[in-house]
Amino acid sequence: IDVQELSKNHLFTFDPGLMSTAMCRSEITYIDGDKGILLHRGYPIHDLAMNADYLEVAYLLLYGERPDQKDYNEFTQVIRQHTLVHEQLSRFFHGFRRDSHPMAVMCGVSGALAAFYHNVLDVSDEEHRNLTALRLLAKMPTLAAMCYKYSIGHPFMFPQNHLSYAGNFLYMMFATPCEPYQVNPVLEKAMNRIFILHADHEQNASTSTVRTAASSGSNPFACIAAGIASLWGPTHGGANEACIKMLEEIGSVDRIPEFIEKAKDKNDPFRLMGFGHRVYKNYDPRAKVMRETCHEVLQELGIKTQLLKVAMELERIALTDEYFIERNLYPNVDFYSGIILKAIGIPVSMFTVIFALARTVGWIAHWKEMYDFGTLKIVRPRQVYTGHTQREFNQLAE
Ligand code: CMC
Repeated sequence: IDVQELSKNHLFTFDPGLMSTAMCRSEITYIDGDKGILLHRGYPIHDLAMNADYLEVAYLLLYGERPDQKDYNEFTQVIRQHTLVHEQLSRFFHGFRRDSHPMAVMCGVSGALAAFYHNVLDVSDEEHRNLTALRLLAKMPTLAAMCYKYSIGHPFMFPQNHLSYAGNFLYMMFATPCEPYQVNPVLEKAMNRIFILHADHEQNASTSTVRTAASSGSNPFACIAAGIASLWGPTHGGANEACIKMLEEIGSVDRIPEFIEKAKDKNDPFRLMGFGHRVYKNYDPRAKVMRETCHEVLQELGIKTQLLKVAMELERIALTDEYFIERNLYPNVDFYSGIILKAIGIPVSMFTVIFALARTVGWIAHWKEMYDFGTLKIVRPRQVYTGHTQREFNQLAE
Protein backbone atom coordinates (compact mmCIF):
# COMPACT_ATOMS: atom_id res chain seq x y z
CA ILE A 1 0.00 0.00 0.00
CA ASP A 2 1.42 3.36 -0.97
CA VAL A 3 0.43 5.46 2.05
CA GLN A 4 2.13 8.56 0.68
CA GLU A 5 -0.15 8.31 -2.35
CA LEU A 6 -3.20 7.71 -0.13
CA SER A 7 -2.40 10.72 2.05
CA LYS A 8 -2.60 12.97 -1.01
CA ASN A 9 -6.35 12.39 -1.00
CA HIS A 10 -6.62 14.01 2.40
CA LEU A 11 -6.01 17.50 3.62
CA PHE A 12 -3.21 16.46 5.95
CA THR A 13 0.37 15.24 5.62
CA PHE A 14 1.47 11.69 6.29
CA ASP A 15 4.29 12.15 8.77
CA PRO A 16 5.10 8.98 10.77
CA GLY A 17 7.19 9.75 13.83
CA LEU A 18 6.27 13.43 13.33
CA MET A 19 9.64 13.96 11.67
CA SER A 20 8.59 17.20 10.03
CA THR A 21 5.71 18.48 12.12
CA ALA A 22 5.99 21.26 14.70
CA MET A 23 3.16 20.67 17.12
CA CYS A 24 3.62 23.81 19.18
CA ARG A 25 5.60 26.98 19.54
CA SER A 26 7.89 27.25 22.53
CA GLU A 27 10.38 29.67 24.10
CA ILE A 28 12.11 27.20 26.40
CA THR A 29 14.77 25.29 24.47
CA TYR A 30 16.48 25.78 21.11
CA ILE A 31 18.35 23.03 19.24
CA ASP A 32 20.38 23.37 16.05
CA GLY A 33 20.92 19.72 15.28
CA ASP A 34 23.27 20.31 12.36
CA LYS A 35 25.63 22.47 14.38
CA GLY A 36 25.22 20.57 17.66
CA ILE A 37 23.85 23.57 19.56
CA LEU A 38 21.53 23.38 22.57
CA LEU A 39 20.34 26.53 24.35
CA HIS A 40 17.98 26.84 27.30
CA ARG A 41 16.27 30.24 27.19
CA GLY A 42 19.29 31.37 25.14
CA TYR A 43 22.02 29.98 27.43
CA PRO A 44 24.36 27.29 26.02
CA ILE A 45 24.05 23.93 27.75
CA HIS A 46 27.82 23.80 28.27
CA ASP A 47 27.83 27.05 30.28
CA LEU A 48 24.87 25.99 32.38
CA ALA A 49 26.18 22.49 33.08
CA MET A 50 29.67 23.68 34.00
CA ASN A 51 28.67 26.64 36.17
CA ALA A 52 25.10 26.53 37.41
CA ASP A 53 23.19 24.76 40.12
CA TYR A 54 20.31 22.52 38.95
CA LEU A 55 17.68 24.60 40.75
CA GLU A 56 19.00 27.74 39.03
CA VAL A 57 18.48 26.00 35.68
CA ALA A 58 15.06 24.78 36.83
CA TYR A 59 14.08 28.38 37.63
CA LEU A 60 15.35 29.49 34.23
CA LEU A 61 13.32 26.82 32.42
CA LEU A 62 10.17 27.53 34.39
CA TYR A 63 10.23 31.33 34.44
CA GLY A 64 12.34 32.35 31.43
CA GLU A 65 15.13 34.24 33.25
CA ARG A 66 17.93 33.27 35.58
CA PRO A 67 17.11 34.11 39.21
CA ASP A 68 18.97 36.80 41.12
CA GLN A 69 20.23 35.79 44.55
CA LYS A 70 17.00 36.82 46.31
CA ASP A 71 14.78 34.93 43.83
CA TYR A 72 17.05 31.92 44.07
CA ASN A 73 16.90 31.89 47.88
CA GLU A 74 13.12 32.19 47.87
CA PHE A 75 12.76 29.52 45.19
CA THR A 76 14.96 26.99 46.96
CA GLN A 77 13.23 27.77 50.25
CA VAL A 78 9.82 26.89 48.76
CA ILE A 79 11.20 23.73 47.16
CA ARG A 80 12.43 22.70 50.61
CA GLN A 81 8.91 23.05 52.00
CA HIS A 82 7.63 20.44 49.57
CA THR A 83 10.25 17.68 49.63
CA LEU A 84 8.21 15.33 51.83
CA VAL A 85 5.63 13.04 50.29
CA HIS A 86 2.36 12.15 52.01
CA GLU A 87 2.70 9.17 54.38
CA GLN A 88 -0.13 7.43 52.52
CA LEU A 89 1.99 7.62 49.39
CA SER A 90 4.89 5.94 51.20
CA ARG A 91 2.57 3.00 51.82
CA PHE A 92 1.72 2.85 48.13
CA PHE A 93 5.21 1.45 47.50
CA HIS A 94 4.46 -1.66 49.50
CA GLY A 95 1.98 -2.83 46.88
CA PHE A 96 4.84 -3.38 44.45
CA ARG A 97 7.08 -6.43 44.21
CA ARG A 98 10.56 -5.63 45.54
CA ASP A 99 12.10 -6.74 42.25
CA SER A 100 9.86 -4.49 40.11
CA HIS A 101 11.74 -2.32 37.66
CA PRO A 102 12.08 1.08 39.40
CA MET A 103 10.63 2.79 36.31
CA ALA A 104 7.43 0.75 36.73
CA VAL A 105 7.24 1.91 40.35
CA MET A 106 8.06 5.48 39.36
CA CYS A 107 5.20 5.52 36.81
CA GLY A 108 2.83 4.32 39.52
CA VAL A 109 3.85 6.57 42.39
CA SER A 110 4.18 9.77 40.38
CA GLY A 111 0.76 9.13 38.82
CA ALA A 112 -0.56 8.52 42.33
CA LEU A 113 0.39 12.08 43.26
CA ALA A 114 -2.65 13.09 41.20
CA ALA A 115 -4.87 11.47 43.82
CA PHE A 116 -3.41 13.73 46.48
CA TYR A 117 -3.76 17.02 44.63
CA HIS A 118 -6.61 16.55 42.16
CA ASN A 119 -9.54 18.06 44.07
CA VAL A 120 -7.66 21.13 45.25
CA LEU A 121 -6.01 21.90 41.90
CA ASP A 122 -7.32 24.61 39.61
CA VAL A 123 -5.03 24.57 36.57
CA SER A 124 -6.61 27.73 35.19
CA ASP A 125 -5.05 29.60 38.13
CA GLU A 126 -1.42 30.64 37.56
CA GLU A 127 -0.61 30.35 41.26
CA HIS A 128 -1.83 26.75 41.30
CA ARG A 129 0.25 25.98 38.23
CA ASN A 130 3.35 27.37 39.91
CA LEU A 131 2.66 25.40 43.05
CA THR A 132 2.25 22.23 40.97
CA ALA A 133 5.62 22.84 39.32
CA LEU A 134 7.31 23.36 42.69
CA ARG A 135 5.66 20.30 44.22
CA LEU A 136 6.80 18.08 41.38
CA LEU A 137 10.32 19.46 41.38
CA ALA A 138 10.58 18.98 45.15
CA LYS A 139 9.04 15.52 45.37
CA MET A 140 10.63 13.71 42.43
CA PRO A 141 14.02 13.10 44.13
CA THR A 142 12.19 11.83 47.22
CA LEU A 143 10.11 9.40 45.13
CA ALA A 144 13.09 8.31 43.03
CA ALA A 145 15.21 7.53 46.10
CA MET A 146 12.26 5.70 47.67
CA CYS A 147 12.09 3.46 44.57
CA TYR A 148 15.69 2.44 45.20
CA LYS A 149 15.37 2.01 48.97
CA TYR A 150 12.25 -0.10 48.48
CA SER A 151 14.02 -2.32 45.95
CA ILE A 152 16.79 -3.17 48.43
CA GLY A 153 14.49 -3.45 51.45
CA HIS A 154 15.99 -0.47 53.28
CA PRO A 155 13.97 2.12 55.20
CA PHE A 156 13.08 5.30 53.34
CA MET A 157 15.28 8.24 54.32
CA PHE A 158 13.61 11.59 54.90
CA PRO A 159 14.86 14.51 52.80
CA GLN A 160 17.54 16.70 54.39
CA ASN A 161 16.56 20.22 53.46
CA HIS A 162 19.89 21.84 54.37
CA LEU A 163 21.53 19.92 51.51
CA SER A 164 21.64 20.91 47.84
CA TYR A 165 19.13 19.32 45.45
CA ALA A 166 21.77 16.85 44.20
CA GLY A 167 23.27 16.34 47.67
CA ASN A 168 19.87 15.60 49.19
CA PHE A 169 19.16 13.04 46.46
CA LEU A 170 22.45 11.25 47.16
CA TYR A 171 21.66 11.34 50.88
CA MET A 172 18.22 9.77 50.38
CA MET A 173 19.75 7.12 48.10
CA PHE A 174 22.74 6.09 50.17
CA ALA A 175 22.30 7.14 53.80
CA THR A 176 20.91 4.70 56.36
CA PRO A 177 19.57 5.41 59.86
CA CYS A 178 22.47 3.36 61.28
CA GLU A 179 25.35 5.76 60.75
CA PRO A 180 26.12 9.33 59.75
CA TYR A 181 26.39 10.00 56.01
CA GLN A 182 28.60 12.67 54.46
CA VAL A 183 27.76 13.70 50.89
CA ASN A 184 30.88 13.40 48.73
CA PRO A 185 31.31 16.80 46.98
CA VAL A 186 32.72 15.15 43.81
CA LEU A 187 29.64 12.98 43.47
CA GLU A 188 27.37 15.91 44.31
CA LYS A 189 28.94 18.02 41.55
CA ALA A 190 28.64 15.17 39.05
CA MET A 191 25.02 14.50 40.00
CA ASN A 192 24.18 18.20 39.67
CA ARG A 193 25.70 18.23 36.19
CA ILE A 194 23.84 15.08 35.13
CA PHE A 195 20.59 16.65 36.32
CA ILE A 196 21.26 19.81 34.28
CA LEU A 197 22.21 17.88 31.14
CA HIS A 198 18.87 16.05 31.28
CA ALA A 199 16.68 18.97 32.33
CA ASP A 200 14.99 19.68 29.00
CA HIS A 201 15.28 18.81 25.32
CA GLU A 202 12.30 20.45 23.58
CA GLN A 203 9.76 18.19 21.83
CA ASN A 204 11.26 14.75 22.44
CA ALA A 205 8.91 11.73 22.77
CA SER A 206 8.27 12.10 26.52
CA THR A 207 7.77 15.88 26.44
CA SER A 208 5.40 15.54 23.50
CA THR A 209 3.62 12.83 25.48
CA VAL A 210 3.21 15.16 28.46
CA ARG A 211 1.95 17.91 26.16
CA THR A 212 -0.44 15.49 24.42
CA ALA A 213 -1.80 14.16 27.71
CA ALA A 214 -2.12 17.71 29.08
CA SER A 215 -3.81 19.00 25.92
CA SER A 216 -7.11 17.54 27.14
CA GLY A 217 -6.80 19.51 30.39
CA SER A 218 -5.77 16.43 32.35
CA ASN A 219 -4.25 16.37 35.85
CA PRO A 220 -0.56 17.42 35.57
CA PHE A 221 0.73 14.71 37.94
CA ALA A 222 -0.95 12.08 35.76
CA CYS A 223 0.55 13.75 32.67
CA ILE A 224 4.03 13.44 34.20
CA ALA A 225 3.39 9.72 34.76
CA ALA A 226 2.61 9.49 31.02
CA GLY A 227 5.93 11.22 30.29
CA ILE A 228 7.76 8.74 32.49
CA ALA A 229 6.16 5.85 30.61
CA SER A 230 7.32 7.27 27.30
CA LEU A 231 10.82 7.97 28.59
CA TRP A 232 11.28 4.37 29.73
CA GLY A 233 11.73 2.99 26.19
CA PRO A 234 15.25 1.97 25.10
CA THR A 235 15.31 4.35 22.13
CA HIS A 236 14.56 7.29 24.47
CA GLY A 237 15.58 7.59 28.15
CA GLY A 238 15.99 3.84 28.56
CA ALA A 239 19.04 4.09 26.29
CA ASN A 240 21.31 4.89 29.28
CA GLU A 241 20.50 1.52 30.85
CA ALA A 242 20.73 -0.26 27.49
CA CYS A 243 24.03 1.46 26.74
CA ILE A 244 25.80 0.38 29.92
CA LYS A 245 24.52 -3.17 29.40
CA MET A 246 25.93 -3.05 25.87
CA LEU A 247 29.33 -1.77 27.05
CA GLU A 248 29.42 -4.52 29.69
CA GLU A 249 28.51 -7.12 27.08
CA ILE A 250 31.26 -5.89 24.75
CA GLY A 251 33.58 -6.15 27.73
CA SER A 252 36.91 -5.51 26.00
CA VAL A 253 38.18 -3.42 23.09
CA ASP A 254 38.99 -6.42 20.91
CA ARG A 255 35.26 -7.27 20.69
CA ILE A 256 34.26 -3.80 19.41
CA PRO A 257 34.54 -4.58 15.67
CA GLU A 258 32.12 -7.50 16.11
CA PHE A 259 29.50 -5.15 17.66
CA ILE A 260 30.09 -2.45 15.05
CA GLU A 261 29.35 -5.03 12.35
CA LYS A 262 26.21 -6.14 14.20
CA ALA A 263 25.02 -2.51 14.39
CA LYS A 264 25.51 -2.12 10.63
CA ASP A 265 23.77 -5.37 9.75
CA LYS A 266 20.23 -4.56 8.59
CA ASN A 267 19.10 -8.11 9.39
CA ASP A 268 20.16 -7.69 13.01
CA PRO A 269 17.95 -5.50 15.24
CA PHE A 270 20.99 -4.53 17.35
CA ARG A 271 21.89 -0.83 17.37
CA LEU A 272 24.74 0.96 19.10
CA MET A 273 23.00 2.31 22.18
CA GLY A 274 23.84 5.89 23.09
CA PHE A 275 24.46 6.58 19.40
CA GLY A 276 22.35 8.56 16.94
CA HIS A 277 19.67 11.16 17.41
CA ARG A 278 16.56 12.34 15.59
CA VAL A 279 17.64 15.98 15.71
CA TYR A 280 21.44 16.02 16.17
CA LYS A 281 23.32 15.30 12.99
CA ASN A 282 26.47 16.42 14.78
CA TYR A 283 28.02 15.67 18.18
CA ASP A 284 25.35 16.01 20.89
CA PRO A 285 26.62 18.94 23.02
CA ARG A 286 25.37 17.15 26.15
CA ALA A 287 27.51 14.13 25.30
CA LYS A 288 30.58 16.40 25.12
CA VAL A 289 30.03 17.65 28.68
CA MET A 290 29.16 14.14 29.81
CA ARG A 291 32.42 12.74 28.39
CA GLU A 292 34.42 15.48 30.11
CA THR A 293 32.55 14.88 33.38
CA CYS A 294 33.12 11.14 33.09
CA HIS A 295 36.90 11.64 32.95
CA GLU A 296 36.79 14.13 35.81
CA VAL A 297 34.68 11.95 38.11
CA LEU A 298 36.64 8.77 37.50
CA GLN A 299 39.91 10.60 38.05
CA GLU A 300 38.74 12.34 41.21
CA LEU A 301 37.40 9.06 42.60
CA GLY A 302 40.51 7.18 41.51
CA ILE A 303 38.42 4.67 39.56
CA LYS A 304 39.88 2.87 36.57
CA THR A 305 37.23 1.09 34.57
CA GLN A 306 37.35 -1.02 31.46
CA LEU A 307 33.94 0.43 30.53
CA LEU A 308 35.40 3.87 29.77
CA LYS A 309 38.14 2.33 27.65
CA VAL A 310 35.56 0.36 25.67
CA ALA A 311 33.31 3.42 25.29
CA MET A 312 36.11 5.68 24.02
CA GLU A 313 37.39 3.10 21.56
CA LEU A 314 33.87 2.32 20.37
CA GLU A 315 33.31 6.03 19.78
CA ARG A 316 36.64 6.37 17.93
CA ILE A 317 35.94 3.42 15.62
CA ALA A 318 32.31 4.39 14.94
CA LEU A 319 33.21 7.99 14.11
CA THR A 320 35.66 6.83 11.44
CA ASP A 321 33.33 4.19 9.97
CA GLU A 322 31.59 5.02 6.70
CA TYR A 323 28.21 3.66 7.91
CA PHE A 324 28.11 6.05 10.90
CA ILE A 325 29.60 8.98 8.96
CA GLU A 326 27.06 8.69 6.12
CA ARG A 327 24.17 8.64 8.59
CA ASN A 328 25.58 11.35 10.89
CA LEU A 329 25.49 9.08 13.91
CA TYR A 330 27.32 10.52 16.94
CA PRO A 331 27.30 9.71 20.65
CA ASN A 332 24.28 11.16 22.44
CA VAL A 333 23.66 12.13 26.08
CA ASP A 334 23.22 8.49 27.10
CA PHE A 335 26.59 7.25 25.87
CA TYR A 336 28.75 8.35 28.82
CA SER A 337 26.16 9.03 31.52
CA GLY A 338 25.92 5.39 32.64
CA ILE A 339 29.64 5.17 33.36
CA ILE A 340 29.39 8.17 35.69
CA LEU A 341 26.24 6.89 37.38
CA LYS A 342 27.88 3.52 37.93
CA ALA A 343 30.95 5.21 39.43
CA ILE A 344 28.63 7.11 41.79
CA GLY A 345 27.26 3.74 42.93
CA ILE A 346 23.84 3.98 41.29
CA PRO A 347 22.44 0.63 40.13
CA VAL A 348 21.78 0.30 36.41
CA SER A 349 18.02 -0.14 36.83
CA MET A 350 17.88 3.35 38.43
CA PHE A 351 19.54 5.15 35.48
CA THR A 352 16.31 6.00 33.66
CA VAL A 353 14.63 6.99 36.94
CA ILE A 354 17.36 9.61 37.35
CA PHE A 355 16.71 10.82 33.81
CA ALA A 356 13.00 11.09 34.71
CA LEU A 357 13.62 13.04 37.89
CA ALA A 358 15.90 15.47 36.07
CA ARG A 359 13.56 15.82 33.05
CA THR A 360 10.51 16.53 35.24
CA VAL A 361 11.32 20.23 35.26
CA GLY A 362 11.38 20.25 31.45
CA TRP A 363 8.06 18.43 31.26
CA ILE A 364 6.43 20.74 33.75
CA ALA A 365 7.91 23.87 32.10
CA HIS A 366 6.27 22.77 28.82
CA TRP A 367 3.00 22.02 30.61
CA LYS A 368 3.08 25.45 32.23
CA GLU A 369 3.94 27.12 28.92
CA MET A 370 0.89 25.58 27.24
CA TYR A 371 -1.32 27.27 29.82
CA ASP A 372 0.72 30.49 30.00
CA PHE A 373 0.46 30.87 26.20
CA GLY A 374 -3.25 30.05 26.30
CA THR A 375 -2.68 27.44 23.59
CA LEU A 376 -4.36 24.46 25.17
CA LYS A 377 -5.59 22.87 21.94
CA ILE A 378 -6.33 19.18 22.16
CA VAL A 379 -3.78 17.11 20.25
CA ARG A 380 -5.68 14.99 17.81
CA PRO A 381 -3.54 13.69 14.93
CA ARG A 382 -5.09 12.18 11.82
CA GLN A 383 -4.25 8.89 10.14
CA VAL A 384 -4.12 7.34 6.70
CA TYR A 385 -6.65 4.53 6.86
CA THR A 386 -5.43 1.36 5.12
CA GLY A 387 -8.04 -1.14 6.37
CA HIS A 388 -11.17 -2.66 4.81
CA THR A 389 -13.72 -0.71 2.83
CA GLN A 390 -17.33 -0.98 4.09
CA ARG A 391 -18.52 -4.57 4.52
CA GLU A 392 -21.90 -6.22 4.97
CA PHE A 393 -22.71 -7.38 8.52
CA ASN A 394 -24.08 -10.91 8.95
CA GLN A 395 -25.39 -12.52 12.17
CA LEU A 396 -22.90 -14.98 13.74
CA ALA A 397 -25.31 -17.86 13.14
CA GLU A 398 -25.24 -17.12 9.43
N1 CMC B 1 23.15 2.11 15.56
C1 CMC B 1 23.13 1.71 14.27
N2 CMC B 1 22.43 2.30 13.29
C2 CMC B 1 21.68 3.35 13.63
C3 CMC B 1 21.64 3.85 14.93
C4 CMC B 1 22.41 3.19 15.92
N3 CMC B 1 22.40 3.61 17.18
N4 CMC B 1 20.81 4.91 15.00
C5 CMC B 1 20.34 5.09 13.75
N5 CMC B 1 20.87 4.14 12.92
C6 CMC B 1 20.65 4.02 11.48
C7 CMC B 1 19.29 3.41 11.16
O1 CMC B 1 19.36 2.00 11.07
C8 CMC B 1 18.97 4.08 9.86
O2 CMC B 1 19.72 3.43 8.86
P1 CMC B 1 19.12 3.28 7.34
O3 CMC B 1 19.00 4.69 6.83
O4 CMC B 1 20.13 2.48 6.62
O5 CMC B 1 17.80 2.61 7.49
C9 CMC B 1 19.54 5.48 9.99
O6 CMC B 1 20.62 5.33 10.95
C10 CMC B 1 18.55 6.50 10.54
O7 CMC B 1 18.00 5.99 11.72
P2 CMC B 1 16.49 6.17 12.16
O8 CMC B 1 16.10 5.07 13.09
O9 CMC B 1 15.63 6.36 10.96
O10 CMC B 1 16.59 7.56 12.94
P3 CMC B 1 15.56 8.11 13.99
O11 CMC B 1 15.72 9.56 13.99
O12 CMC B 1 14.19 7.56 13.74
O13 CMC B 1 16.05 7.48 15.39
C11 CMC B 1 17.19 7.17 17.43
C12 CMC B 1 16.83 8.15 16.31
C13 CMC B 1 17.78 7.92 18.60
C14 CMC B 1 15.90 6.46 17.92
C15 CMC B 1 18.19 6.13 16.87
O14 CMC B 1 19.37 6.77 16.47
C16 CMC B 1 18.52 5.03 17.90
O15 CMC B 1 17.75 4.05 17.99
N6 CMC B 1 19.64 5.17 18.66
C17 CMC B 1 19.98 4.22 19.70
C18 CMC B 1 19.15 4.49 20.95
C19 CMC B 1 19.61 5.75 21.67
O16 CMC B 1 20.78 5.94 21.94
N7 CMC B 1 18.63 6.56 22.07
C20 CMC B 1 18.88 7.79 22.85
C21 CMC B 1 18.56 9.04 22.09
S1 CMC B 1 19.14 10.52 22.91
C22 CMC B 1 18.36 10.60 24.44
C23 CMC B 1 16.89 10.56 24.42
O17 CMC B 1 16.22 11.00 23.47
O18 CMC B 1 16.34 10.12 25.40
